[in-house]
Amino acid sequence: MSKRLETLRRVLSQHGQAHLLAFADRLDARALGALLDELDAIDFDALDALIDRYVRHDTPVTVPDDLEPAPYYPHDPAGTYNAASYAARGAEIIRAGKVAAFTVAGGQGTRLGWNGPKGTFPATVVTGKPLFRVFAEQIAAAGKTYGVTIPWYIMTSPANDADTRRFFEDNNCFGLSRRNIFMFPQGTMPSIDAATGRLLLAAPGALALNPDGHGGALRALRASGALADMGARGIEHISYFQVDNPLVRIVDPLFIGLHVGAPDSSGEMSSKMVAKAGPDEKVGVFARVDGRTAVIEYSDLPPALAAARNPDGRLTFNAGSIAIHLIGVDFVERMTSDLTLPFHRALKKVPYVDERGELVEPAAANAVKLEMFIFDAIPFASSSIVYETGRVEEFAPIKNASGTDSVATSHQLQSDRAANWLESAGVTVARTADGRAAAKIEISPLTALAPADLRVADLPERIDAGAEVLL
Ligand code: UTP
Repeated sequence: MSKRLETLRRVLSQHGQAHLLAFADRLDARALGALLDELDAIDFDALDALIDRYVRHDTPVTVPDDLEPAPYYPHDPAGTYNAASYAARGAEIIRAGKVAAFTVAGGQGTRLGWNGPKGTFPATVVTGKPLFRVFAEQIAAAGKTYGVTIPWYIMTSPANDADTRRFFEDNNCFGLSRRNIFMFPQGTMPSIDAATGRLLLAAPGALALNPDGHGGALRALRASGALADMGARGIEHISYFQVDNPLVRIVDPLFIGLHVGAPDSSGEMSSKMVAKAGPDEKVGVFARVDGRTAVIEYSDLPPALAAARNPDGRLTFNAGSIAIHLIGVDFVERMTSDLTLPFHRALKKVPYVDERGELVEPAAANAVKLEMFIFDAIPFASSSIVYETGRVEEFAPIKNASGTDSVATSHQLQSDRAANWLESAGVTVARTADGRAAAKIEISPLTALAPADLRVADLPERIDAGAEVLL
Protein backbone atom coordinates (compact mmCIF):
# COMPACT_ATOMS: atom_id res chain seq x y z
CA MET A 1 0.00 0.00 0.00
CA SER A 2 2.69 2.48 0.98
CA LYS A 3 4.46 2.04 -2.37
CA ARG A 4 1.19 2.61 -4.23
CA LEU A 5 0.52 5.64 -2.06
CA GLU A 6 3.95 7.08 -2.73
CA THR A 7 3.63 6.58 -6.48
CA LEU A 8 0.26 8.32 -6.50
CA ARG A 9 1.53 11.17 -4.33
CA ARG A 10 4.23 11.78 -6.92
CA VAL A 11 1.80 11.71 -9.83
CA LEU A 12 -0.63 14.01 -8.03
CA SER A 13 2.04 16.58 -7.16
CA GLN A 14 3.18 16.66 -10.78
CA HIS A 15 -0.37 17.61 -11.72
CA GLY A 16 -1.05 20.06 -8.88
CA GLN A 17 -3.53 17.70 -7.19
CA ALA A 18 -1.53 16.63 -4.11
CA HIS A 19 -4.33 17.86 -1.79
CA LEU A 20 -6.38 14.80 -2.76
CA LEU A 21 -4.25 12.67 -0.41
CA ALA A 22 -4.14 15.21 2.42
CA PHE A 23 -6.33 13.00 4.63
CA ALA A 24 -4.82 9.67 3.57
CA ASP A 25 -3.34 8.94 7.00
CA ARG A 26 -6.77 9.35 8.63
CA LEU A 27 -8.34 6.61 6.48
CA ASP A 28 -8.50 2.94 7.37
CA ALA A 29 -7.01 0.48 4.88
CA ARG A 30 -10.28 -0.17 3.09
CA ALA A 31 -11.18 3.51 2.69
CA LEU A 32 -7.67 4.32 1.54
CA GLY A 33 -7.77 1.46 -0.97
CA ALA A 34 -11.04 2.81 -2.36
CA LEU A 35 -9.61 6.33 -2.72
CA LEU A 36 -6.48 5.02 -4.44
CA ASP A 37 -8.67 3.01 -6.83
CA GLU A 38 -10.60 6.18 -7.71
CA LEU A 39 -7.38 8.09 -8.32
CA ASP A 40 -5.75 5.29 -10.29
CA ALA A 41 -8.70 5.30 -12.70
CA ILE A 42 -7.95 8.90 -13.73
CA ASP A 43 -5.72 9.75 -16.68
CA PHE A 44 -4.19 12.92 -15.23
CA ASP A 45 -2.48 13.98 -18.47
CA ALA A 46 -5.79 13.94 -20.29
CA LEU A 47 -7.48 15.65 -17.35
CA ASP A 48 -4.89 18.46 -17.36
CA ALA A 49 -5.79 19.20 -20.97
CA LEU A 50 -9.50 19.29 -20.10
CA ILE A 51 -8.90 21.56 -17.09
CA ASP A 52 -6.88 23.92 -19.24
CA ARG A 53 -9.55 24.02 -21.94
CA TYR A 54 -12.74 24.10 -19.89
CA VAL A 55 -11.82 25.38 -16.40
CA ARG A 56 -8.91 27.79 -16.76
CA HIS A 57 -10.37 29.00 -20.06
CA ASP A 58 -13.97 29.00 -21.16
CA THR A 59 -13.43 28.49 -24.88
CA PRO A 60 -16.51 30.00 -26.55
CA VAL A 61 -18.37 27.91 -29.10
CA THR A 62 -18.25 29.46 -32.54
CA VAL A 63 -21.16 29.04 -34.89
CA PRO A 64 -20.28 29.27 -38.60
CA ASP A 65 -21.62 32.32 -40.47
CA ASP A 66 -23.16 30.18 -43.19
CA LEU A 67 -25.22 28.09 -40.77
CA GLU A 68 -28.28 26.62 -42.44
CA PRO A 69 -31.28 24.90 -40.96
CA ALA A 70 -31.36 21.10 -41.30
CA PRO A 71 -34.06 19.73 -43.58
CA TYR A 72 -36.65 17.53 -41.92
CA TYR A 73 -39.45 15.11 -42.70
CA PRO A 74 -42.61 17.04 -41.75
CA HIS A 75 -45.18 15.58 -39.36
CA ASP A 76 -47.84 15.98 -42.00
CA PRO A 77 -46.24 14.41 -45.10
CA ALA A 78 -48.81 16.05 -47.45
CA GLY A 79 -47.37 14.31 -50.48
CA THR A 80 -43.70 14.93 -49.62
CA TYR A 81 -42.95 11.31 -48.65
CA ASN A 82 -44.84 8.06 -48.39
CA ALA A 83 -45.49 7.79 -44.65
CA ALA A 84 -47.55 4.60 -44.90
CA SER A 85 -44.81 2.73 -46.70
CA TYR A 86 -42.10 3.90 -44.26
CA ALA A 87 -44.34 2.94 -41.32
CA ALA A 88 -44.83 -0.52 -42.83
CA ARG A 89 -41.06 -0.89 -43.22
CA GLY A 90 -40.55 0.20 -39.60
CA ALA A 91 -43.18 -2.28 -38.40
CA GLU A 92 -41.27 -5.07 -40.15
CA ILE A 93 -38.05 -4.09 -38.37
CA ILE A 94 -39.86 -4.09 -35.02
CA ARG A 95 -41.51 -7.46 -35.67
CA ALA A 96 -38.11 -8.89 -36.58
CA GLY A 97 -36.92 -8.05 -33.05
CA LYS A 98 -34.30 -5.54 -34.16
CA VAL A 99 -35.32 -2.64 -31.93
CA ALA A 100 -34.42 -2.06 -28.27
CA ALA A 101 -35.61 0.65 -25.90
CA PHE A 102 -32.98 2.73 -24.14
CA THR A 103 -33.67 5.17 -21.29
CA VAL A 104 -30.99 7.52 -20.05
CA ALA A 105 -31.71 7.96 -16.35
CA GLY A 106 -28.35 8.85 -14.88
CA GLY A 107 -28.98 12.58 -14.45
CA GLN A 108 -29.00 14.26 -11.05
CA GLY A 109 -32.42 15.84 -11.51
CA THR A 110 -31.43 18.84 -9.41
CA ARG A 111 -34.05 21.16 -10.89
CA LEU A 112 -36.96 18.87 -10.04
CA GLY A 113 -35.70 18.33 -6.51
CA TRP A 114 -37.34 14.90 -6.20
CA ASN A 115 -35.93 12.69 -3.48
CA GLY A 116 -35.08 9.63 -5.56
CA PRO A 117 -34.29 8.68 -9.15
CA LYS A 118 -36.33 10.81 -11.58
CA GLY A 119 -37.88 7.70 -13.10
CA THR A 120 -39.67 7.07 -9.79
CA PHE A 121 -41.45 10.44 -10.02
CA PRO A 122 -45.28 10.19 -10.15
CA ALA A 123 -45.94 11.58 -13.60
CA THR A 124 -49.38 10.78 -14.91
CA VAL A 125 -52.47 12.90 -14.57
CA VAL A 126 -54.98 10.71 -12.78
CA THR A 127 -53.10 7.77 -11.24
CA GLY A 128 -49.72 9.41 -10.68
CA LYS A 129 -47.93 6.53 -12.35
CA PRO A 130 -44.15 6.78 -12.07
CA LEU A 131 -42.23 7.47 -15.27
CA PHE A 132 -40.58 4.04 -15.27
CA ARG A 133 -44.01 2.38 -15.19
CA VAL A 134 -45.24 4.50 -18.11
CA PHE A 135 -42.29 3.31 -20.20
CA ALA A 136 -42.60 -0.31 -19.01
CA GLU A 137 -46.27 -0.37 -20.03
CA GLN A 138 -45.43 1.06 -23.44
CA ILE A 139 -42.74 -1.57 -23.95
CA ALA A 140 -45.10 -4.35 -22.86
CA ALA A 141 -47.91 -3.07 -25.09
CA ALA A 142 -45.63 -2.63 -28.12
CA GLY A 143 -44.22 -6.13 -27.56
CA LYS A 144 -47.77 -7.49 -27.63
CA THR A 145 -48.75 -5.49 -30.72
CA TYR A 146 -45.74 -6.67 -32.70
CA GLY A 147 -45.47 -10.17 -31.18
CA VAL A 148 -41.88 -9.64 -30.11
CA THR A 149 -39.66 -9.06 -27.08
CA ILE A 150 -38.41 -5.50 -26.86
CA PRO A 151 -35.44 -5.46 -24.50
CA TRP A 152 -35.08 -2.41 -22.30
CA TYR A 153 -31.69 -0.90 -21.48
CA ILE A 154 -31.56 1.66 -18.69
CA MET A 155 -28.57 3.83 -17.91
CA THR A 156 -28.38 4.84 -14.25
CA SER A 157 -25.56 6.60 -12.41
CA PRO A 158 -23.38 5.29 -9.58
CA ALA A 159 -25.41 7.60 -7.29
CA ASN A 160 -28.89 6.30 -8.25
CA ASP A 161 -28.21 2.76 -9.49
CA ALA A 162 -29.07 0.94 -6.25
CA ASP A 163 -32.27 2.97 -5.70
CA THR A 164 -33.34 2.40 -9.29
CA ARG A 165 -32.77 -1.35 -9.05
CA ARG A 166 -34.71 -1.48 -5.76
CA PHE A 167 -37.63 0.38 -7.33
CA PHE A 168 -37.82 -2.15 -10.13
CA GLU A 169 -37.58 -5.06 -7.66
CA ASP A 170 -40.26 -3.54 -5.39
CA ASN A 171 -42.54 -3.18 -8.41
CA ASN A 172 -41.85 -6.63 -9.84
CA CYS A 173 -40.28 -4.94 -12.89
CA PHE A 174 -43.78 -3.67 -13.73
CA GLY A 175 -44.65 -7.09 -15.11
CA LEU A 176 -41.77 -7.21 -17.59
CA SER A 177 -39.36 -10.11 -17.51
CA ARG A 178 -36.22 -9.31 -15.54
CA ARG A 179 -34.19 -11.08 -18.25
CA ASN A 180 -35.15 -8.40 -20.75
CA ILE A 181 -34.14 -5.44 -18.61
CA PHE A 182 -30.46 -4.48 -18.64
CA MET A 183 -29.49 -1.77 -16.18
CA PHE A 184 -26.04 -0.25 -15.98
CA PRO A 185 -24.43 2.77 -14.32
CA GLN A 186 -22.82 5.40 -16.48
CA GLY A 187 -19.30 6.74 -16.12
CA THR A 188 -18.30 9.71 -14.00
CA MET A 189 -15.95 12.68 -14.21
CA PRO A 190 -14.30 14.47 -11.30
CA SER A 191 -15.91 17.79 -10.34
CA ILE A 192 -13.32 20.57 -10.53
CA ASP A 193 -12.94 23.71 -8.44
CA ALA A 194 -13.68 26.54 -10.85
CA ALA A 195 -11.23 28.98 -9.24
CA THR A 196 -8.16 26.74 -8.93
CA GLY A 197 -8.57 23.81 -11.31
CA ARG A 198 -8.15 21.40 -8.37
CA LEU A 199 -10.32 18.32 -8.10
CA LEU A 200 -12.77 18.41 -5.21
CA LEU A 201 -13.18 15.86 -2.45
CA ALA A 202 -16.73 14.91 -1.44
CA ALA A 203 -15.35 13.33 1.76
CA PRO A 204 -11.81 12.91 3.13
CA GLY A 205 -11.60 9.58 1.32
CA ALA A 206 -13.70 10.19 -1.79
CA LEU A 207 -13.53 12.38 -4.88
CA ALA A 208 -16.48 14.56 -5.81
CA LEU A 209 -17.70 12.93 -9.01
CA ASN A 210 -20.48 13.82 -11.42
CA PRO A 211 -22.11 11.66 -14.09
CA ASP A 212 -20.37 12.23 -17.43
CA GLY A 213 -23.50 13.48 -19.24
CA HIS A 214 -26.06 11.70 -21.43
CA GLY A 215 -23.32 11.51 -24.07
CA GLY A 216 -21.57 9.15 -21.68
CA ALA A 217 -24.25 6.67 -22.76
CA LEU A 218 -22.17 5.62 -25.75
CA ARG A 219 -19.12 4.50 -23.81
CA ALA A 220 -21.26 3.10 -20.98
CA LEU A 221 -23.21 0.96 -23.47
CA ARG A 222 -19.94 -0.65 -24.48
CA ALA A 223 -18.23 -0.82 -21.07
CA SER A 224 -21.28 -2.38 -19.39
CA GLY A 225 -21.65 -5.18 -21.92
CA ALA A 226 -25.02 -3.79 -23.05
CA LEU A 227 -23.76 -3.43 -26.60
CA ALA A 228 -22.57 -7.03 -26.66
CA ASP A 229 -25.94 -8.10 -25.23
CA MET A 230 -27.68 -6.22 -28.05
CA GLY A 231 -25.47 -7.95 -30.59
CA ALA A 232 -26.30 -11.37 -29.13
CA ARG A 233 -30.04 -10.57 -29.33
CA GLY A 234 -29.88 -9.36 -32.93
CA ILE A 235 -30.74 -5.77 -32.00
CA GLU A 236 -29.79 -3.32 -34.75
CA HIS A 237 -31.42 -0.06 -33.66
CA ILE A 238 -31.68 1.63 -30.28
CA SER A 239 -34.65 3.84 -29.43
CA TYR A 240 -33.00 6.45 -27.19
CA PHE A 241 -35.09 8.65 -24.88
CA GLN A 242 -34.82 10.64 -21.67
CA VAL A 243 -36.37 9.58 -18.40
CA ASP A 244 -38.43 12.73 -17.97
CA ASN A 245 -40.81 12.70 -20.96
CA PRO A 246 -43.93 10.59 -20.27
CA LEU A 247 -45.30 11.21 -23.79
CA VAL A 248 -42.34 9.78 -25.71
CA ARG A 249 -43.44 7.22 -28.28
CA ILE A 250 -40.76 4.62 -27.68
CA VAL A 251 -41.58 2.23 -30.51
CA ASP A 252 -42.55 4.38 -33.47
CA PRO A 253 -42.81 2.48 -36.77
CA LEU A 254 -42.75 5.58 -38.99
CA PHE A 255 -39.64 7.02 -37.34
CA ILE A 256 -37.93 3.62 -37.49
CA GLY A 257 -38.93 3.21 -41.15
CA LEU A 258 -37.44 6.60 -42.05
CA HIS A 259 -34.29 5.88 -40.02
CA VAL A 260 -33.60 2.63 -41.86
CA GLY A 261 -35.09 3.44 -45.25
CA ALA A 262 -35.05 7.15 -46.14
CA PRO A 263 -32.70 7.86 -49.06
CA ASP A 264 -30.77 10.46 -47.05
CA SER A 265 -30.48 8.36 -43.86
CA SER A 266 -27.40 6.26 -43.13
CA GLY A 267 -29.32 4.43 -40.39
CA GLU A 268 -26.60 5.57 -37.97
CA MET A 269 -28.39 8.24 -35.94
CA SER A 270 -31.73 9.96 -36.52
CA SER A 271 -33.61 12.50 -34.45
CA LYS A 272 -37.10 13.73 -33.70
CA MET A 273 -37.87 17.43 -33.55
CA VAL A 274 -40.83 19.66 -32.74
CA ALA A 275 -41.45 23.09 -34.22
CA LYS A 276 -40.05 25.63 -31.76
CA ALA A 277 -42.69 27.42 -29.69
CA GLY A 278 -40.95 30.75 -30.38
CA PRO A 279 -37.49 32.27 -30.91
CA ASP A 280 -36.77 32.21 -27.16
CA GLU A 281 -37.65 28.61 -26.41
CA LYS A 282 -34.63 27.04 -24.73
CA VAL A 283 -34.12 24.02 -26.94
CA GLY A 284 -31.28 23.21 -29.31
CA VAL A 285 -32.02 23.41 -33.03
CA PHE A 286 -31.07 21.12 -35.90
CA ALA A 287 -28.77 22.79 -38.40
CA ARG A 288 -26.35 21.91 -41.18
CA VAL A 289 -22.69 22.47 -40.40
CA ASP A 290 -20.15 21.63 -43.11
CA GLY A 291 -22.76 19.53 -44.85
CA ARG A 292 -23.56 17.51 -41.71
CA THR A 293 -26.57 17.54 -39.43
CA ALA A 294 -25.81 18.97 -35.97
CA VAL A 295 -27.62 20.36 -32.94
CA ILE A 296 -26.77 23.94 -32.03
CA GLU A 297 -27.50 24.64 -28.38
CA TYR A 298 -29.92 27.49 -27.74
CA SER A 299 -27.24 29.41 -25.86
CA ASP A 300 -24.91 29.21 -28.89
CA LEU A 301 -27.42 30.27 -31.56
CA PRO A 302 -26.94 34.01 -32.28
CA PRO A 303 -30.18 35.90 -31.41
CA ALA A 304 -30.52 37.18 -35.00
CA LEU A 305 -30.55 33.60 -36.32
CA ALA A 306 -32.89 32.45 -33.55
CA ALA A 307 -35.37 35.17 -34.56
CA ALA A 308 -34.95 34.85 -38.35
CA ARG A 309 -38.13 33.90 -40.24
CA ASN A 310 -38.90 32.44 -43.65
CA PRO A 311 -41.25 34.28 -46.06
CA ASP A 312 -44.10 32.06 -44.78
CA GLY A 313 -43.53 33.43 -41.25
CA ARG A 314 -42.06 30.23 -39.83
CA LEU A 315 -38.82 30.42 -37.82
CA THR A 316 -35.89 29.61 -40.09
CA PHE A 317 -34.28 27.53 -37.33
CA ASN A 318 -37.55 25.89 -36.46
CA ALA A 319 -36.46 22.33 -35.66
CA GLY A 320 -36.24 22.05 -31.87
CA SER A 321 -34.41 19.03 -30.51
CA ILE A 322 -36.40 16.94 -28.00
CA ALA A 323 -33.69 14.37 -27.27
CA ILE A 324 -35.38 11.44 -28.98
CA HIS A 325 -33.11 9.48 -31.29
CA LEU A 326 -32.69 6.22 -33.10
CA ILE A 327 -29.12 5.02 -32.95
CA GLY A 328 -27.67 2.14 -34.93
CA VAL A 329 -25.85 -0.50 -32.89
CA ASP A 330 -23.04 -0.49 -35.49
CA PHE A 331 -22.75 3.27 -35.08
CA VAL A 332 -22.28 2.92 -31.30
CA GLU A 333 -19.59 0.28 -32.00
CA ARG A 334 -17.80 2.73 -34.29
CA MET A 335 -18.24 5.73 -32.00
CA THR A 336 -16.79 3.83 -29.05
CA SER A 337 -13.90 2.12 -30.78
CA ASP A 338 -11.94 5.10 -32.03
CA LEU A 339 -13.90 8.29 -31.39
CA THR A 340 -14.80 10.33 -28.34
CA LEU A 341 -17.36 13.06 -27.88
CA PRO A 342 -16.28 16.53 -26.83
CA PHE A 343 -16.98 17.78 -23.30
CA HIS A 344 -19.10 20.74 -22.25
CA ARG A 345 -18.59 22.72 -19.07
CA ALA A 346 -21.36 23.43 -16.58
CA LEU A 347 -20.80 25.67 -13.59
CA LYS A 348 -22.65 24.15 -10.59
CA LYS A 349 -22.81 24.14 -6.79
CA VAL A 350 -20.84 21.13 -5.58
CA PRO A 351 -20.36 20.44 -1.83
CA TYR A 352 -16.72 19.73 -0.96
CA VAL A 353 -14.34 19.00 1.90
CA ASP A 354 -12.05 21.94 2.72
CA GLU A 355 -8.42 21.78 3.84
CA ARG A 356 -9.51 21.16 7.45
CA GLY A 357 -11.51 18.15 6.36
CA GLU A 358 -14.86 19.86 6.88
CA LEU A 359 -17.76 19.66 4.46
CA VAL A 360 -18.68 22.98 2.85
CA GLU A 361 -22.07 23.60 1.20
CA PRO A 362 -21.27 26.44 -1.22
CA ALA A 363 -23.77 29.27 -1.51
CA ALA A 364 -22.90 29.90 -5.17
CA ALA A 365 -21.71 27.82 -8.11
CA ASN A 366 -18.12 26.80 -7.32
CA ALA A 367 -17.30 23.88 -9.57
CA VAL A 368 -17.06 22.89 -13.20
CA LYS A 369 -18.73 19.66 -14.20
CA LEU A 370 -17.63 18.15 -17.49
CA GLU A 371 -20.34 16.41 -19.47
CA MET A 372 -20.76 14.87 -22.90
CA PHE A 373 -23.99 15.36 -24.86
CA ILE A 374 -25.52 12.62 -26.97
CA PHE A 375 -26.36 14.94 -29.85
CA ASP A 376 -22.66 15.61 -30.44
CA ALA A 377 -22.57 12.16 -32.03
CA ILE A 378 -24.90 13.26 -34.85
CA PRO A 379 -22.26 14.94 -37.05
CA PHE A 380 -20.21 11.72 -36.93
CA ALA A 381 -22.98 9.95 -38.87
CA SER A 382 -22.34 10.00 -42.60
CA SER A 383 -25.87 11.32 -43.04
CA SER A 384 -28.50 11.85 -40.40
CA ILE A 385 -32.18 12.65 -40.79
CA VAL A 386 -34.62 14.65 -38.67
CA TYR A 387 -38.31 13.83 -38.40
CA GLU A 388 -40.95 16.20 -37.06
CA THR A 389 -43.36 14.98 -34.43
CA GLY A 390 -46.20 16.93 -32.83
CA ARG A 391 -45.38 18.78 -29.63
CA VAL A 392 -48.60 17.68 -27.92
CA GLU A 393 -48.12 14.18 -29.35
CA GLU A 394 -44.74 13.55 -27.89
CA PHE A 395 -43.13 16.19 -25.72
CA ALA A 396 -44.19 16.88 -22.13
CA PRO A 397 -40.93 16.96 -20.16
CA ILE A 398 -40.87 17.19 -16.37
CA LYS A 399 -37.73 19.16 -15.55
CA ASN A 400 -38.81 21.64 -12.87
CA ALA A 401 -40.93 21.56 -9.73
CA SER A 402 -42.99 24.50 -11.04
CA GLY A 403 -43.23 26.86 -14.01
CA THR A 404 -41.91 25.86 -17.46
CA ASP A 405 -41.53 22.14 -18.14
CA SER A 406 -42.97 21.23 -14.76
CA VAL A 407 -45.35 18.54 -13.63
CA ALA A 408 -48.23 21.01 -14.12
CA THR A 409 -47.36 21.77 -17.76
CA SER A 410 -46.72 18.08 -18.41
CA HIS A 411 -50.11 17.11 -16.93
CA GLN A 412 -51.89 19.61 -19.16
CA LEU A 413 -50.07 18.31 -22.25
CA GLN A 414 -50.84 14.71 -21.30
CA SER A 415 -54.56 15.60 -21.04
CA ASP A 416 -54.37 17.59 -24.29
CA ARG A 417 -52.95 14.61 -26.14
CA ALA A 418 -55.53 12.26 -24.64
CA ALA A 419 -58.27 14.71 -25.70
CA ASN A 420 -56.94 14.81 -29.28
CA TRP A 421 -56.85 11.03 -29.44
CA LEU A 422 -60.36 10.68 -28.01
CA GLU A 423 -61.80 13.29 -30.36
CA SER A 424 -60.28 11.43 -33.30
CA ALA A 425 -62.22 8.40 -32.04
CA GLY A 426 -65.48 10.37 -31.95
CA VAL A 427 -65.61 11.36 -28.25
CA THR A 428 -66.70 14.92 -27.39
CA VAL A 429 -64.20 16.50 -24.99
CA ALA A 430 -64.74 19.80 -23.14
CA ARG A 431 -62.11 22.42 -24.00
CA THR A 432 -61.09 25.68 -22.35
CA ALA A 433 -61.41 28.98 -24.21
CA ASP A 434 -57.82 28.64 -25.42
CA GLY A 435 -58.41 25.14 -26.73
CA ARG A 436 -56.79 23.09 -23.97
CA ALA A 437 -58.39 19.96 -22.50
CA ALA A 438 -60.74 21.07 -19.71
CA ALA A 439 -60.63 17.66 -17.98
CA LYS A 440 -57.92 15.47 -16.52
CA ILE A 441 -57.58 12.53 -18.88
CA GLU A 442 -55.16 9.63 -18.63
CA ILE A 443 -54.93 6.92 -21.27
CA SER A 444 -52.80 3.97 -20.16
CA PRO A 445 -50.30 2.69 -22.73
CA LEU A 446 -51.93 -0.70 -22.10
CA THR A 447 -55.18 0.77 -23.51
CA ALA A 448 -53.71 2.62 -26.50
CA LEU A 449 -50.26 3.32 -27.87
CA ALA A 450 -51.71 5.41 -30.69
CA PRO A 451 -55.13 6.92 -31.54
CA ALA A 452 -56.00 3.99 -33.80
CA ASP A 453 -55.90 1.63 -30.78
CA LEU A 454 -58.85 3.52 -29.25
CA ARG A 455 -61.22 2.21 -31.89
CA VAL A 456 -61.45 -1.07 -30.01
CA ALA A 457 -61.59 0.48 -26.53
CA ASP A 458 -64.75 1.06 -24.53
CA LEU A 459 -65.08 4.85 -24.74
CA PRO A 460 -67.38 7.41 -23.11
CA GLU A 461 -69.52 9.53 -25.43
CA ARG A 462 -68.41 12.78 -23.87
CA ILE A 463 -66.02 14.12 -21.26
CA ASP A 464 -67.21 17.20 -19.36
CA ALA A 465 -65.15 20.06 -17.95
CA GLY A 466 -63.58 19.19 -14.60
CA ALA A 467 -63.98 15.44 -15.08
CA GLU A 468 -61.23 12.95 -14.21
CA VAL A 469 -61.10 10.12 -16.68
CA LEU A 470 -58.89 7.05 -16.72
CA LEU A 471 -58.90 4.79 -19.74
P1 UTP B 1 -31.05 16.88 -17.96
O1 UTP B 1 -30.22 17.69 -18.86
O2 UTP B 1 -32.46 17.28 -17.79
O3 UTP B 1 -30.31 16.78 -16.57
O4 UTP B 1 -30.98 15.38 -18.45
P2 UTP B 1 -30.75 16.15 -15.19
O5 UTP B 1 -29.47 15.81 -14.48
O6 UTP B 1 -31.74 15.04 -15.31
O7 UTP B 1 -31.50 17.31 -14.43
P3 UTP B 1 -30.93 18.66 -13.79
O8 UTP B 1 -30.31 19.44 -14.91
O9 UTP B 1 -29.94 18.28 -12.71
O10 UTP B 1 -32.16 19.31 -13.23
C1 UTP B 1 -31.66 14.96 -19.59
C2 UTP B 1 -31.70 13.45 -19.59
O11 UTP B 1 -30.39 12.92 -19.64
C3 UTP B 1 -30.16 12.05 -18.54
C4 UTP B 1 -31.16 12.47 -17.49
O12 UTP B 1 -31.40 11.41 -16.59
C5 UTP B 1 -32.35 12.82 -18.36
O13 UTP B 1 -33.02 11.64 -18.77
N1 UTP B 1 -28.76 12.23 -18.09
C6 UTP B 1 -28.26 13.47 -17.89
C7 UTP B 1 -28.01 11.11 -17.87
O14 UTP B 1 -28.48 9.96 -18.04
N2 UTP B 1 -26.74 11.26 -17.45
C8 UTP B 1 -26.18 12.48 -17.24
O15 UTP B 1 -24.99 12.55 -16.86
C9 UTP B 1 -26.96 13.62 -17.47
